[in-house]
Amino acid sequence: MSNHGSQQLFTRLTALLKMLGLLMISVLFLLILFAFPGMFSGKTNHAEKEQAKVMPDTVFSRPWKAPEDWRMMYLSDSQKEKVLYGRELIAHTAEYFGPKGKVRASSNGMNCQNCHLNAGTQPWGNNYLAVQANYPKFRDRSGTLENQVKRVNDCFQRSLNGQALDSTDKAMKAILAYIAWVGQDVPKHYIPRGSGIYKLALLDRAADTLKGRKIFIEKCQTCHQKNGEGLLNDSGTAYTYPPLWGPASYNNAAGLFRISNLAGYVKYNMPFGVSYQNAQLKDEDAWDVASFINAMPRPSGDKTKDWPDIAKKPFDHPFGPYADPFTEQQHKFGPFKPIKKWKSTHNKKS
Ligand code: HEC
Ligand code: HEC
Repeated sequence: MSNHGSQQLFTRLTALLKMLGLLMISVLFLLILFAFPGMFSGKTNHAEKEQAKVMPDTVFSRPWKAPEDWRMMYLSDSQKEKVLYGRELIAHTAEYFGPKGKVRASSNGMNCQNCHLNAGTQPWGNNYLAVQANYPKFRDRSGTLENQVKRVNDCFQRSLNGQALDSTDKAMKAILAYIAWVGQDVPKHYIPRGSGIYKLALLDRAADTLKGRKIFIEKCQTCHQKNGEGLLNDSGTAYTYPPLWGPASYNNAAGLFRISNLAGYVKYNMPFGVSYQNAQLKDEDAWDVASFINAMPRPSGDKTKDWPDIAKKPFDHPFGPYADPFTEQQHKFGPFKPIKKWKSTHNKKS
């Protein structure tokens, strides 16, 4: 072979190798594309990223558990009695503090357990697992460092539309003993998986009260009744099905009056019997039904001392004034994404 010929062969070989290389890179690229759909599709908008942050599959596996009852054998008799009385008060609050309560009539007839399922132990059922490890805690709503007495009384005054208990009250001490029992295994400042209420991804649109009404009629009305008024037991001492709106429901200063809380609670706990493992509603159904429920009349609560720093109001706090330019209507029903975006660009310093 001439010198020229071998050179030609060489250039051809390198060209072939280059092509092979390119081919391999493209195959690799395609593989990646199939393995991680959405990675290059520009469809990964903010919500999906946000959801990816909270929703890797681990979120719903192995949620933190409350201690089992047999461990109470290590408590002193008096301590055990206190914890059990606390649990009884959480589960059957109305029997003690409802309109026909045997201790005193100082709340609306709901039970703590209506919103803190299984006496505050249900994963994603607004449980108390994070409380003992994280209080006292600075909360933006009051702008103060809050202890557990204050936090429990918040729910008495807002969710139960009633009166606060004194910190020395036997019932308050029992409730706190129970909350401490539930959270005893959680390391300080740690937020256990499955505690509180699940944060749903935001919709691109405003929540729709008309669609929500339809869902209410289809999926909620049989228990919570036609006018959301709930159903009392035969003796009228407590609700078999608690009210969703009206005079005996939570007031408009309560946590559930923010529709993100209500939607997250409903999605993984209602219709009664579902859990985080077998939710029935689509996210948008949960948002819509929440918007319908919170559009209905309910008692007004004292909000005069809330959110002293208005820039700290959450995106779905439905009462102005606001640091941002959005209306009360939009803060109540959405769309929330523009509000969150505004907050993230303007609240950098805080
Ligand atoms: C109408 C529903 C409702 C009722 C009834 C209710 N709560 Fe709550 N509670 C909430 C909501 C909503 C939150 C806030 C959840 C959040 O922001 O993630 C909350 C939060 C709490 C917290 C703080 C949890 C934490 O992790 O920081 C405690 C403690 C608490 N409630 C105790 C009680 C007690 C005790 C009662 C009964 C006297 C009660 N709640 C009744 C809805 C309710
Ligand atoms: C099978 C009966 C049943 C159905 C259907 C049902 N719920 Fe409930 N709901 C309950 C019961 C019972 C509780 C209280 C749970 C407890 O105390 O353990 C409750 C509690 C609630 C609460 C918290 C307490 C309150 O009254 O504010 C909300 C909010 C709620 N339900 C919303 C809904 C929504 C929305 C639907 C329809 C998607 C629905 N529920 C369907 C039985 C039902």
